[in-house]
Amino acid sequence: MKRTVQDLVGLKGKVVLLRVDFNVPLDTVGRILDLNRINKAIPTIKYLTEQKAKVVIISSLGRPIGYEVRSSLWQISLILMKKLGSKVYFSNKVYGDEVKVRIKTMEPGDVLLLENVRFYPEEKACDMKFARKISELGDIFVNDAFGTAHRKHASTYGIARLMPNAIGLLMEKEYNSISAAMESPKHPFVAIIGGTKVPDKIKILKRFVDVADTIIIGGAMAYTFLLAKGVPVGQSITYLDSLQDAREILDYASSCGKKIILPIDHVALRKDDKKGKKFVTDILGEDMVGMDIGPKSAKLFATAIKSAKQIIWNGPLGKYEDPRFKDGTFKVAKAVAASGAYSIVGGGDSVSAVKECKVADKISFLSTGGGATLKLIEDGKLPCLEVIQEKIR
Ligand code: ADP
Ligand code: 3PG
Ligand code: MG
Repeated sequence: MKRTVQDLVGLKGKVVLLRVDFNVPLDTVGRILDLNRINKAIPTIKYLTEQKAKVVIISSLGRPIGYEVRSSLWQISLILMKKLGSKVYFSNKVYGDEVKVRIKTMEPGDVLLLENVRFYPEEKACDMKFARKISELGDIFVNDAFGTAHRKHASTYGIARLMPNAIGLLMEKEYNSISAAMESPKHPFVAIIGGTKVPDKIKILKRFVDVADTIIIGGAMAYTFLLAKGVPVGQSITYLDSLQDAREILDYASSCGKKIILPIDHVALRKDDKKGKKFVTDILGEDMVGMDIGPKSAKLFATAIKSAKQIIWNGPLGKYEDPRFKDGTFKVAKAVAASGAYSIVGGGDSVSAVKECKVADKISFLSTGGGATLKLIEDGKLPCLEVIQEKIR
């Protein structure tokens, strides 16, 4: 059992470096689409401010290459101020003397949000010098960033190796709920995978072939699989580096007698059509881009979902942020909600879609983790949790 924030004593006046996952989904102009990941981080922040710690929050947002306004955490500091009722300051640096002075002048119970840690390339590289510079800001490290606990980055994994540490309340809840569901899954167990992070997420499908009865693949993930089967995909998003994995997963599933269901029709655009007129097609021609599953696929998926007793879903089935391409994801969300199965929906975008579709209250567990949930199911553990101290008994 990992040490949690509630096991920490004498927090008054201590500087707690709290890693959260504020990687919220954004629309095309950078507006926040869903506050789930912020809301879920609040209990740990509140707990720490009530203990009168000085809370220094670290987070990432998106996949920026250097600074970009769109991925700044500034707008989140304003949201936090409203939600917390305590003082929330913002720093556009994540280490150094300026930040240290800022922290010194804070009162116990105040909050300081640091700028997006992914603006620094050292974060992704898990640069230990960078991790050390951040660690110098505080006394204790608390990791509550379940959504990104599958990535060994400087502010999640590296820093935990340099400081006394614990997990937050969200991390504890997410870990326990997902582990419990996977201990003895109910059958028929249906896994649904979509989204775009194919290289990150494709390997989990092998594990799903072992534990699930049916695997549904949609979203941009589907085109790499269709290509592996020799089905034309036009100009749709594909990942050639993952093609071999896709072939192996298809072969493995058929050798185990497990069903992998892929889209049989698509909502598409023509690459050069400036007007962006969508249409439905069974076959993606050379100049077409698949943007969503078509109505026949949605029906096929819904039929498989109807008889499920347990469902795990990560990744929208189309580019749902664009109103033209949300139907497939919404139809599947409604089918999951109506199934009565124990359902886990995880991921920033997937949860946002389910909420927009107004079926969130019919989902058994909404997880902040997409990739993290899949990794936990795949390995039974998460790298960023492994480096956290055990509870002292
Ligand atoms: P989650 O955040 O739920 O873990 P991902 O981040 O893996 O999910 O994937 C979500 C993204 O996938 C969304 O931005 C969505 O637009 C995109 N997406 C899904 N299907 C397609 C598609 N056919 N073409 C382009 N983008 C897609
Ligand atoms: C990340 O680090 O990419 C995210 O916080 C996890 O996002 P996901 O839900 O898209 O996997
Ligand atoms: Mg996402």
